[in-house]
Amino acid sequence: MKRTVCTILAIAIASLGSGCVNLERSRDLGNPNVSGRTLALQVCSSCHGVDGNSTSPGFPKLAGQQQDYLIAQLKFFRDHNRSDPAGSEYMWGISRKLTDEQIKGLATYFSQQKDAPNVAGDRATAAAGKAIFENGIPDKGVAACAGCHGASGLGNGTFPRLAGQHADYMIKQLHVLSETNQRPAGAMMKPLVHGLTSSDLRAVTTYLQGISPT
Ligand code: HEC
Ligand code: HEC
Repeated sequence: MKRTVCTILAIAIASLGSGCVNLERSRDLGNPNVSGRTLALQVCSSCHGVDGNSTSPGFPKLAGQQQDYLIAQLKFFRDHNRSDPAGSEYMWGISRKLTDEQIKGLATYFSQQKDAPNVAGDRATAAAGKAIFENGIPDKGVAACAGCHGASGLGNGTFPRLAGQHADYMIKQLHVLSETNQRPAGAMMKPLVHGLTSSDLRAVTTYLQGISPT
């Protein structure tokens, strides 16, 4: 009897977009029925921003990021393959029980958000960084970043978007990519960063952070 009432109620509420458990508001990372979009709004938003435009450089921006890249990174965190210190500390627990379907939903949601403008840095520094991004440093065997990350830094597939990303986050990751094997798909980046001085790193990331959304 009770069950019938609940079923009727559930059907009635479901037609309003909800169930006996409110799946639209759930923060339950262990429930496979909660959609990726709901988790994005209820959980990820506290660090990455509701629309993926985090304001603190400790938390990478996800807005407008490539969907395939987001899927790959979330699986790397879930399966403990991306092990840089901040990644394992913050993202392993959160991603532990995510299903492939939820990961796809999360990646779709964030890839569709509009990137908000970030702080534009010093002009001369950004101009020096633009030259590195577009041409590389041929004398030192540094390939042009644009070749993989796109002419405007928007990325492509599993090549991440860098345009508008926080410079401090990128510098941290450039050190991880060049000095460790903590990012499993980072092999392509390793030799490149070795040819860059710390002022080159500052310049190229200043340029990238300041690229206005298109
Ligand atoms: C408590 C804060 C916190 C929460 C909540 C959080 N994250 Fe993160 N996330 C981080 C931090 C910090 C990093 C950067 C880790 C690093 O430096 O490697 C990160 C990194 C990431 C990255 C890698 C970005 C890149 O450019 O490589 C993705 C993707 C990501 N988070 C997605 C999510 C999703 C999806 C959720 C919700 C299910 C979520 N995060 C919830 C703190 C958080
Ligand atoms: C041969 C292709 C290639 C070139 C050239 C290249 N990258 Fe990358 N880059 C990648 C790939 C692939 C990744 C993602 C690695 C991963 O999944 O862990 C990446 C990751 C990054 C990241 C980390 C992004 C994040 O959200 O965590 C930064 C920052 C970066 N690259 C900057 C640069 C800069 C600056 C240059 C030029 C000096 C450059 N890349 C040149 C392929 C390339």
